[in-house]
Amino acid sequence: MKAVAVFPKTHEVKVIDNHEEPQITQPTQAKLRMLDVGVCGTDKEICSFEYGTPPDGYDYLVIGHESLGEVIEVGANVSTLKVGDLVVTMVRRPCNHPECRACRAGRQDFCFTGDFTERGIKQQHGFMTEYVVDDEQYMNVVPHELRDIAVLVEPLTIAEKGIAQLWQIQQRLPWLEPDATAGERGKGHHAVVLGAGPVGILGTMALLVAGFETSVYSRTPAPNPKSQLVESLGAKYISDQQTTAEQLGQQIGNIDVIYEAVGASQVAFDVMPVLGTNAAFIFTGVPGRKAPIQVDTDLIMRDAVLKNQIIFGTVNAGKDAFQNAIRDLAIFQQRWPGAVHALITGRYPIDSFNDVVSGKVGGIKNVIDLDSLTKK
Ligand code: BGC
Ligand code: ZN
Repeated sequence: MKAVAVFPKTHEVKVIDNHEEPQITQPTQAKLRMLDVGVCGTDKEICSFEYGTPPDGYDYLVIGHESLGEVIEVGANVSTLKVGDLVVTMVRRPCNHPECRACRAGRQDFCFTGDFTERGIKQQHGFMTEYVVDDEQYMNVVPHELRDIAVLVEPLTIAEKGIAQLWQIQQRLPWLEPDATAGERGKGHHAVVLGAGPVGILGTMALLVAGFETSVYSRTPAPNPKSQLVESLGAKYISDQQTTAEQLGQQIGNIDVIYEAVGASQVAFDVMPVLGTNAAFIFTGVPGRKAPIQVDTDLIMRDAVLKNQIIFGTVNAGKDAFQNAIRDLAIFQQRWPGAVHALITGRYPIDSFNDVVSGKVGGIKNVIDLDSLTKK
């Protein structure tokens, strides 16, 4: 089969055509024909050989972790899937250590040992190929109405896991309605999203659906295509070239949540001083290590204490976040049909992969079309 393969030792990224086709070997497995695979910053890092590990016994890693596939075959004991279903497959697989309580509880997104594997990232081949086999427990069925946008489910799970933890943390505030419906919970509260890439815009949509008044704080001065997209959602777009962090704080009032989606620590720590009272700061980015920067740590520590602030990071996602992402994506499609489709700025054939990952083609979320490889 064709696959996009990264060879870390020889520093090559290429489309190979001799990747072996996987077969069902366990009764709980299903086989997928891949339709769409999204490209993200993690893929870019893997393709510049800064991240990513091939499976044991291979000198290459098939990349791709933001996926959509169609079930073409199911094992004898598969009960949650049928041929023809569309599915998004989860990325992380548990470590083997008996003492890892997270992995043993099926929550490898909280793995303690670091010996988890990730499809398309760490020691397991990914989805940028023709066919994939995996266990049904890692597959999430998506309604056919979401065919064109379901590749956004995986990047949306980042926000879903972050927001789920936010609600758990904010249960500490006794006046918040514990069982308020999802649409109401953020009402009257302010969220700021740092960054207007795919993770930022999907996070903005999720925060708006949760009821937050949401502002996106990003680099490029408005108007620009991303600012127009953000404003069409009903969020505010504010450029850091035109508004300082201090002014941002004054404009918004109490900032209840800051959702970082830029992956740059300087921006994050510049904004942290305007985090509000009883508020949470959520990190989602994984910055490359650069030179140390100056940060006013006394101010951050004072505020964390005097304002009951919580600062937390979130990585990967569990089954619940995938389910929530599928539910929310359907809501996004209803509420903003144009904008949610506009997030996917291009579908490219597998042979154009290098142009997509190198950033030669611009846009927001670019997708590799695998459907055409195996379509009958
Ligand atoms: C993926 C996550 C993964 C993380 C770290 C992200 O791009 O979306 O699933 O856990 O990279 O490898
Ligand atoms: Zn990703």
